[in-house]
Amino acid sequence: MKDQLEKIKKDALEALNKIKDIDALKNLEVKFLGRKGLLTNLLRGVKDLSPAEKPLIGKLSNTIKVDLEQAFATLGQKFETEKLEKELKKDFFDTTIPGTARPLGHIHPLSQVQEEVERIFNQMGFAIMDGPEVESEYYNFEGLNIPKDHPARDMQDTFFLKDKNDKDHGRMVLRTHTSPVQVRTMEKYGAPLRVIVPGRVFRYEATDASHDTTFYQVEGLLIDKNISLSHLKGVMAEFLTRLFGKPVKVRFRPGYFPFVEPGLELDFSCLLCGEKGCRVCKHTGWIEFMGAGMVHENVLKAGGVDPKEYQGWAFGFGLTRLVMMRYGIDDIRLLTNGDQRFIKQF
Ligand code: PHE
Repeated sequence: MKDQLEKIKKDALEALNKIKDIDALKNLEVKFLGRKGLLTNLLRGVKDLSPAEKPLIGKLSNTIKVDLEQAFATLGQKFETEKLEKELKKDFFDTTIPGTARPLGHIHPLSQVQEEVERIFNQMGFAIMDGPEVESEYYNFEGLNIPKDHPARDMQDTFFLKDKNDKDHGRMVLRTHTSPVQVRTMEKYGAPLRVIVPGRVFRYEATDASHDTTFYQVEGLLIDKNISLSHLKGVMAEFLTRLFGKPVKVRFRPGYFPFVEPGLELDFSCLLCGEKGCRVCKHTGWIEFMGAGMVHENVLKAGGVDPKEYQGWAFGFGLTRLVMMRYGIDDIRLLTNGDQRFIKQF
């Protein structure tokens, strides 16, 4: 039996040497090591051997079995590697060839400044709100204490939507300012409140270097107890100082907006000339920046806030104008006409 075992081993190894591919290898493995293979069959006889022979032959046959298994596995491995290498060669990909450059976009200057404004107000505890650009006449005007036939409607030339009606809130318009979000926010969240509303607004205007039918504003609204205009002055001086990175002063002048009482205009000190007077500030030393005032009690009521308990202020400035000042852009239309040669500079 010992000879038979050695012969099987020898035959198997010889056959292995001639094997050229994985299929032949598998067949050969079955022939010798399979369930009905030569070695397997022979091993079935071990149990009938004499007690003296059994351990020796048992040990030998085991070694041979392990050796053969090992030899088959090694060759199998070799075939696998060869196959992989062949595939790799076929799909060779030179990672050192330079790639095709794709033109990269970047953030529009309007969005850049908007993000900065949001960040600064965020740091001061203001939440960012949003509202619809197609708005009802109610939120755009009546809710803001501008009744139907009030002359203040003429302050803002409005796009009306043809045949569009909100069933509770009258005709639909393209919002002329971000102020409608004041009432919407109070309705939704009540008081106290601290929010800003950056957004797109529309006016029916002839376009020129400083007027466009579409532009961007930022609304601010703060409602709480014991609030006064001094808080507004402090918040705006801080905001502008952080935005421009150097100390900025602000001043109030009386102004009129139906949704605030008292109403005012806020100017800030001209950074270009240090208040000495230059072309940019029209030789006044101050730059007109925004409208603001204490929220009118009719507006608080429209928002469901009790004017006896709460008061607050609101402001609205032109984000588009701020961007133009920031980068010295002298034509508003450049910001929205999609000319890459212009926009790529920022
Ligand atoms: N909504 C006003 C405008 O567009 C600006 C403003 C906002 C004024 C809030 C006062 C208070 O002109």
